[in-house]
Amino acid sequence: MNITDFKIERLLTVNSTNDYLKTLVKQGECEPIIVIADAQTKGRGTKNRSFISQKGGLYLSILLPPCETNLITPMTAVAVSDTVEQISGKTTQIKWVNDVYLRGKKLSGILCETVFSPKSNKPYLIVGIGLNLFKPNDDFSDEIKDIAISLFETEDIAIKERFINTLIKNFFKYFNCLSEKCFLEKYRAKNFILEKTVKVIIGNEKTDAIAVAIDDYCRLIVKFPDGSEKALNSGEVILKK
Ligand code: BTN
Repeated sequence: MNITDFKIERLLTVNSTNDYLKTLVKQGECEPIIVIADAQTKGRGTKNRSFISQKGGLYLSILLPPCETNLITPMTAVAVSDTVEQISGKTTQIKWVNDVYLRGKKLSGILCETVFSPKSNKPYLIVGIGLNLFKPNDDFSDEIKDIAISLFETEDIAIKERFINTLIKNFFKYFNCLSEKCFLEKYRAKNFILEKTVKVIIGNEKTDAIAVAIDDYCRLIVKFPDGSEKALNSGEVILKK
């Protein structure tokens, strides 16, 4: 698959680009489509959190045919990180599993979701990417201003178009070799959580552990003080200060 297989739809403001695609699929749309918005009024993040989506950011969702889902989130993080480097020359790092960081602050988040199509009777995959491309006119809102960072200070339409194009190309470059896990080496190298002490939250329990590795399924291997190890699929990991 590549960029030319996809219809690209541009919107000024939408509730959520992921929700927009979900609605299309539920209405019977199954064609490959990418939707890009300048702002979202109900942007969603992982764990049912909201994702503040001010103007200046890039909000993009890709509707993919039914495919292997587990590795898409980390793969997308590598595509985002590569794109940032190619467009700005800035180096980013990845925080397992779905966040891209620049100078210790969050630049981008990824939300992959499945949606069942009543037309084809199959689950489709939606890959949602949110990235703080330019600083919002009125700065970041109070809730995120200490933890978020933008890639550029001032808006530049030409840069934005180049960024979108490069991001989509990078996405399909890795997507087309997903079965060979061609993104994995970079994913490991870019992660900044390895060898750090983390708080692992499973259910209501918080336990300290060391992040020791990322395995071939992109699970985070953590080691607890008693020497035992656990492979985390999701659950939450907080970097200990
Ligand atoms: C996270 O950091 O928790 C994930 C954030 C994902 C945000 C993107 S923006 C485009 C797409 N639409 C949404 O509502 N969410 C994703």
